[in-house]
Amino acid sequence: PRPRAGTSARTVDALREIVDWEHGLVAPAIHFDEEVYRVEAERVFDRAWLVVGHEDMVRKPGDYITNYMGEVPVIVVRDAQGEIRVLVNKCSHRGNQVCLFDRGNVKGFTCSYHGWSFGLDGALTGAPMEQMLYRGELDKAAWGLEPVAQVVNFHGLLFATFDRSAPAFESWLDADARWWLENFVLSTPLGGLEMLPGWHRYRSPGNWKLVCENFIGDDYHVYSATHVSWLAMIQDFMEQGVRIPIITYPGTTDGPMYEGSAGGNGRGAPMGMGMVVADNDSLFKRDLAEAQELGPEAVDWVEYRREKLLELAQGRPVKPYSFMNGLVYPNMALMGFFSPMLGRHFQMFHPRGPVEHECWQWTMVERDAPQVVKDLAVQRVYQGQHGAGVIAPDDVENFERMVEAGKPARSWRRPFHYGLQLGHEDEGPKGLPGNLGPNPSEVNQRQFYRFWLEMMERS
Ligand code: FES
Ligand code: FE
Repeated sequence: PRPRAGTSARTVDALREIVDWEHGLVAPAIHFDEEVYRVEAERVFDRAWLVVGHEDMVRKPGDYITNYMGEVPVIVVRDAQGEIRVLVNKCSHRGNQVCLFDRGNVKGFTCSYHGWSFGLDGALTGAPMEQMLYRGELDKAAWGLEPVAQVVNFHGLLFATFDRSAPAFESWLDADARWWLENFVLSTPLGGLEMLPGWHRYRSPGNWKLVCENFIGDDYHVYSATHVSWLAMIQDFMEQGVRIPIITYPGTTDGPMYEGSAGGNGRGAPMGMGMVVADNDSLFKRDLAEAQELGPEAVDWVEYRREKLLELAQGRPVKPYSFMNGLVYPNMALMGFFSPMLGRHFQMFHPRGPVEHECWQWTMVERDAPQVVKDLAVQRVYQGQHGAGVIAPDDVENFERMVEAGKPARSWRRPFHYGLQLGHEDEGPKGLPGNLGPNPSEVNQRQFYRFWLEMMERS
């Protein structure tokens, strides 16, 4: 079957006709249709396990952050007993948001409309003039904040789902996907990850899936067109011997790079990794060369870290199997994992209507790294994958033009082509969890839409 026009008001009745992942064809309606967007909120965002933050953001009782699950505002808070809770940020009285700030430490939440108060566990603790006005008849136990149905702490990364009957987290993210994600969040042989202060946020044109398919492994655009100006700039600086560490990472690896996939194919949510590097030795050498420019403290740390990684591997392949970019379905992107000198960033793409999304991004570095390495890592992130950096704006410009060209329904008649490396997906090295294939490729985009279709077809 070939995707056809998605102009019918009932596009959701014809989902199979807009996603033909087997042939790498997807109809544009998937990025523009209002009805698809509305149904997606219920069938994807109300059911999926979604990342809501990291435990490092809420270390002490009373610490909270606010975030979104789809378009639903939520509070992630550590209660007095130390348990992390996720609560819908909506007053149970008449719907005002009860938490107005991004982060902080509180004893509870008080609504700014009529003053109902809630504890850190979401329980309704008081209403102004309660005895006089409600005459002792307000059933406080029934009117707390709505808790999100399930929360899981995956090595610090916090996942939550609204769906009480969602598959257990272990079957949502299968063992292969967890192995790769563990690499990203856990492969710190020393003191774990530390969050750098502050979130970076920007609103950007383009359906949330447009940007997710970009991160899940679209390395084609990196080498072919979008980011070549950045790559050329790095090359120029290197040739002239100009060291501007903020925007240049001295190359990547001497060895080949692959596209990685895990999950999907009937094995839960897909995770995709781009620029997967198996040759850790060459990365280590590059880190060491750079550390030498930063001073003896950085050199000692890079060497000690390497020793620890070898020790932990006990003869097995050394973790990490680094990758540069990736995505955990549906909307959590991971970036910057080639090197501890880069910083790791976590980006969520929240839906904001069919043709807009909001990027929420935070950065982590290894807690035990010397300050000079942390400073370098964070500068790189801010100067690269940020709204005012040298990488992200290139992508945003594409998204803006894609929206303009794709919004008119007339433009939906011809399917998009997602056929890169179709049929060659598994032509990579064997023996690792998941699958490694050639890079660049659109295998992960096909997996993404395959799983999206599965979720959308479940009524
Ligand atoms: Fe919150 Fe009335 S809406 S107290
Ligand atoms: Fe890009």
